Amino acid sequence: MESYVLKNGVKIPKIGFGTWKLKEGEEAYQSVLHALKVGYRHIDTAQVYGNEASVGRAIKDSDIPREEIFLTTKIWNDKHSYSLAKQAVEESMQKLQVDYLDLLLIHWPNPVHLRKDKAWMQANQEVWQLMEELYQAGKLKSIGVSNFMVHHLAALLPHTKVKPMVNQVLLAPGTTQDDLVNFCRQHDMLLEAYSPLGSGSLFEQEQVKEIAQKYNKSVAQLALRWSLDKGFLPLPKSKTPANIESNLAIFDFELDPEDRKKLDLLEGLKTQSDPDQVDF
Ligand SMILES: NC(=O)c1ccc[n+]([C@@H]2O[C@H](COP(=O)([O-])OP(=O)(O)OC[C@H]3O[C@@H](n4cnc5c(N)ncnc54)[C@H](OP(=O)(O)O)[C@@H]3O)[C@@H](O)[C@H]2O)c1
Repeated sequence: MESYVLKNGVKIPKIGFGTWKLKEGEEAYQSVLHALKVGYRHIDTAQVYGNEASVGRAIKDSDIPREEIFLTTKIWNDKHSYSLAKQAVEESMQKLQVDYLDLLLIHWPNPVHLRKDKAWMQANQEVWQLMEELYQAGKLKSIGVSNFMVHHLAALLPHTKVKPMVNQVLLAPGTTQDDLVNFCRQHDMLLEAYSPLGSGSLFEQEQVKEIAQKYNKSVAQLALRWSLDKGFLPLPKSKTPANIESNLAIFDFELDPEDRKKLDLLEGLKTQSDPDQVDF
């Protein structure tokens, strides 16, 4: 598996296995176990997905050495204070059966209960301070954010000693978020592409099917290759063994610039939710 290198020198495998909506229990366990068996070495979970225990069990049962797996989880919106986040990270590590995380993210910048008087700004600083301490202590190998738009980053960055290494946002054909991507790149942050298949909405698009045929690839493979060609790190989710496997077969081709452009401009797919408007 090829890797990107984060600004602190940490290597991060170029595809991550997404686990949102994988049900706690057999579904999450079998899916993650299969992903590890067929070659994924990067797993993306979150406290709110409710499946950390199954993810941890699959990692353990895979018998793959811990240091060969890149594991991410995310702090949920009801834990946006120093002490609540501290306790939540400890609980995550317990459920995942690990004594360090490769990457911890603040899941959303602006939880609904912290909007009055822009309380989210102070809350993010507090959580970030905890993350910096855990990073310095070696409990977190890298730290970052998710769903942060430029104004959320601009509010946080002046209050950081260790800068975010990653921003995980929705990036998929039709959703390129150019201004945000440029801002993150200026700050040397890697862009992780969540919902790289538009949460499934991509498969209805005739134009995408036609482009995929040209490369003799599936629609999913085309979208994931687009993501890599853009310099993003895609996080496809699947509970279907054949899809889990075929989503890895994207390292043997590249898109022509005009096809990449067509995918950039696609319309009608799922787009990034506005973090300042979501109701959670
Ligand atoms: N930070 C955040 O706020 C955030 C938000 C959303 C997502 N994420 C992360 O990003 C990951 C991926 O996003 P997502 O779960 O929204 O969706 P996605 O990966 O864009 O799409 C998943 C859907 O595509 C289907 N699929 C996968 N591979 C396929 C293939 N080769 N052929 C046909 N269908 C295929 C899956 O069905 P099957 O399962 O049946 O294969 C599922 O319905 C999440 O799991 C999570 O880790 C993060």
